[in-house]
Amino acid sequence: MKILVVGTGAREHALVRSLSLDPAVTELHAAPGNPGIGLLAQLHPVDQLDGSAVAELAGRLGADLVVVGPEAPLVAGVADAVRAAGIAVFGPSAAAAQLEGSKAFAKEVMAAAGVPTAEPRIATTLEEAAAGLDAFGAPYVVKDDGLAAGKGVVVTHDRDEALAHAADCLAKTGSRVVIEDYLDGPEISLFVLSDGVDAVPLVPAQDFKRAHDGDEGPNTGGMGAYSPLPWAPQDLVQEVMDRVARPTIAEMARRGTPFAGVLYVGLAMTSKGLRVVEFNARFGDPETQVVLARLATPLGAVLQAAATGSLGTLPALEWLDAAAVTVVIASGGYPGTVRAGDPITGIEDAEAIPGVHVLHAGTALQLNPAGEDDDALDGAHLVAAGGRVLSVVGVGQDLAAARAAAYAGVAQIELPYSHHRNDIASAAADGPLV
Ligand code: GLY
Repeated sequence: MKILVVGTGAREHALVRSLSLDPAVTELHAAPGNPGIGLLAQLHPVDQLDGSAVAELAGRLGADLVVVGPEAPLVAGVADAVRAAGIAVFGPSAAAAQLEGSKAFAKEVMAAAGVPTAEPRIATTLEEAAAGLDAFGAPYVVKDDGLAAGKGVVVTHDRDEALAHAADCLAKTGSRVVIEDYLDGPEISLFVLSDGVDAVPLVPAQDFKRAHDGDEGPNTGGMGAYSPLPWAPQDLVQEVMDRVARPTIAEMARRGTPFAGVLYVGLAMTSKGLRVVEFNARFGDPETQVVLARLATPLGAVLQAAATGSLGTLPALEWLDAAAVTVVIASGGYPGTVRAGDPITGIEDAEAIPGVHVLHAGTALQLNPAGEDDDALDGAHLVAAGGRVLSVVGVGQDLAAARAAAYAGVAQIELPYSHHRNDIASAAADGPLV
């Protein structure tokens, strides 16, 4: 099987890594990929938002399957363009990706499907937004209706900050903002594969969204994750499938926009039971890094089954009896204005530790000064080129062992001015509750 993966992040590196371990995968390509992905797949400098260019590339390569990683290409219709070219694609249509592309649309689908979630107020003016904030009270939850590259949601006790975020969201033409009740309780991410009709859950994971230890600091794209969740109820996955995933997938099919790809269900385990915090139309990052590290079933046929309407005949997925923890190393300044161009060293030393692998996100290759060749990287060296730079993954027999491996890996890596959290999975590894 020849597979083309679209995207540039550690999530796509994790997908490519798992696909590279699948004996049925004979060729791997990525567009545009990153230097880490380039060690496992052939890179193609194609604009990931350009559906015609991706479809043309897939056709030229004779790809059997295209896997679209990030939300922006999905919302831009890249999966539609590939499907129209007659090539199997893992990723929903632009219409179905509106489950992530518009928070207001997702709320409408949830209401129609009877999915438990926080009651929303959709505002188109600052006055409506202010009324929504006052109706729910603190802590205030303000969500940009559209895609905002991980910066769309503000949760704060400060009404002025909440209103300022609403104003920023509403400053965009034709925009809306969603104000909703705060959901208490720990959050869980569950990825559900769907071919538009059938649905297959992966294992749950937990993400750490705040920048600093103790869940302090601003929201980020995610600073680390772990799986399994020893504290989660035994019947959690069944309940999410019954009350959330299957009703949503059925509602999308009923509307004539079937959802095929991965439905990312972001949940809060509140004192009143589970509630959906958000839907995304793609794998989560960094949760994918730990979920795929535990998957024993070869990934290629799984994604192909979702892409071709045959999930119903896929044998049950098999999982390693192991835990995984990932720690994100971020550039100085992240999630604000980030430094770029700082050198990264120590990845090989990290990967020499049993159970550790390192996935690239915001990295780039910079040509060495003349006479300082590095054969492994063709005369170039690795530098930081984004906010989240690396995901260091540790796999072990339990969370404590996986966590120890991940942090031993992090300790080997040098990136000036970088930062990472020190408490990823610590509570879950130490005891039964987060
Ligand atoms: N880890 C959060 C996300 O992928 O949106």
